[in-house]
Amino acid sequence: MLHLLQLITLMVLSLIPHEAIAQPPPPYTSFFAPLHKHIDAANPLYSVQIMTAYTNMQFMHSNFLIDIDAPLTWHDCIVQWNMYQGSCPDNTLCTSPVSCDEYQCTDVRASYSYKNPYCPKVKNTTTFEGYCTCSVNLMNPINEPCSQVLLNYDTFFVNTSNGRNPLPGFYAAFSNAACAPSSLFESFPENLMGVLAFSSSPYAFPVSLDQPPLKRIFSLCFPSTTSTTGILFYGNGPYYLFPQKVDVKNFLSYTPLLKHLDSFGYFIGVNSIVIKTRSIDIPGNTTTKLSTIEPYTTLRTDIYNRVVRRFSMVTKRLAPANSIAPFGLCFSTFANGTKINLRVPDIELVLQDGKKWAISTANSMLQITQDVACLAFIDGGDAMEYPIVIGAFQFEDNFLLFDLENSNFGFSSSLLLKKTSCANFNFTMGSG
Ligand SMILES: *[C@@H]1O[C@H](CO)[C@@H](O)[C@H](O)[C@H]1NC(C)=O
Ligand SMILES: *[C@@H]1O[C@H](CO)[C@@H](O)[C@H](O)[C@H]1NC(C)=O
Ligand SMILES: *[C@@H]1O[C@H](CO)[C@@H](O)[C@H](O)[C@H]1NC(C)=O
Ligand SMILES: *[C@@H]1O[C@H](CO)[C@@H](O)[C@H](O)[C@H]1NC(C)=O
Ligand SMILES: *[C@@H]1O[C@H](CO)[C@@H](O)[C@H](O)[C@H]1NC(C)=O
Repeated sequence: MLHLLQLITLMVLSLIPHEAIAQPPPPYTSFFAPLHKHIDAANPLYSVQIMTAYTNMQFMHSNFLIDIDAPLTWHDCIVQWNMYQGSCPDNTLCTSPVSCDEYQCTDVRASYSYKNPYCPKVKNTTTFEGYCTCSVNLMNPINEPCSQVLLNYDTFFVNTSNGRNPLPGFYAAFSNAACAPSSLFESFPENLMGVLAFSSSPYAFPVSLDQPPLKRIFSLCFPSTTSTTGILFYGNGPYYLFPQKVDVKNFLSYTPLLKHLDSFGYFIGVNSIVIKTRSIDIPGNTTTKLSTIEPYTTLRTDIYNRVVRRFSMVTKRLAPANSIAPFGLCFSTFANGTKINLRVPDIELVLQDGKKWAISTANSMLQITQDVACLAFIDGGDAMEYPIVIGAFQFEDNFLLFDLENSNFGFSSSLLLKKTSCANFNFTMGSG
């Protein structure tokens, strides 16, 4: 039975024309940024589009590589003292330097710099007017040389959302990052001019988005093609991907995020790998790294061999093809003059507490040529630092949530099975 007050409210509302009860725009529940896939470098890579400066009443948009391991954000810019005297060269992004006297400089150098024995020792450099800048080391995640870059005070802008559509407001994130010369981006896909750090380092990007009441949670949903746009959210949600009417959070299972000494990256514990009900013997509770840079899941040789042996057994009915490096197990996708859509059994990662991350065909089989698809797992050799590294191809069209507040990792498995995808955020501005 309706409560009397509800009844009165309903009667009153029914008398008012709809326009009149329109509410003011609801406040945002998240920040968001579009994600893209790039295939014009040696390996597929994924970028986030953010806004780096506001000039002439317009935002400058830049694509940054997503790196969930990097301790610090860095991009193509130059540091300049006296920012406001109009001395920034054309088509260049200028930011203010952190001085070598400031605590951020010591802090980043001591703890939050890229660690590598091959990096040269950092030096203080004195620029004009006697100011001293702060050089820090960074490792290029694509081709790995170490370089020295200058720590700066940066501002990035992200748009706001109610989880369904963009809202009019944007958010300015103040952050320390580093300026690197354009030459460091030569091995990057075209139009990628930076690396946005999403690690747990206090100098990574999520820290600069910390804005109560938003929770310290970010999520990644990688698109599977270069022509579609995926989505990154920061905040507790809800998150909607059309035509689904329910919050994507309803599709998630959770497992603890593990810390690993000497790394700001994210790890989960994998207890076993199951293919068609048969469990593959792996050392229990194997520390598994999540990587947005490794293109494919990489397994230590002993684990790789067992996975491939089992996978070959359950795919016996498929026509084999010569393998194409770096993959070891490939199938023909062309038979009797027609293209076959392969369907293979799931590869299930059984995590701590028995939760299962199911890697289904879209994330296990990579179509390499018209005629050949390969199991998108790589043999990482005997001496891998972590026995399992889950790579970015396995993230495509999966919704992944990194809850930094509760140290939890949420995963949806393939959204395609829920009749949606990472390309289904509605980028049309909401009416509020
Ligand atoms: C942010 O929103 C503005 C419109 O308010 C739009 O012009 C801009 O492209 C958006 N930027 C990103 C990175 O989505
Ligand atoms: C850089 O300068 C600061 C401040 O003068 C000093 O504390 C620091 O030791 C210097 N570092 C190096 C590597 O020279
Ligand atoms: C698995 O390993 C992690 C760290 O290596 C540890 O924190 C966790 O308690 C372990 N879980 C189980 C179920 O053994
Ligand atoms: C190709 O055609 C032959 C004869 O019709 C059939 O036996 C075979 O199963 C077909 N192969 C595939 C992969 O469809
Ligand atoms: C996207 O959002 C706009 C504005 O709310 C709405 O008009 C449109 O129908 C939505 N499109 C889809 C595919 O849901």
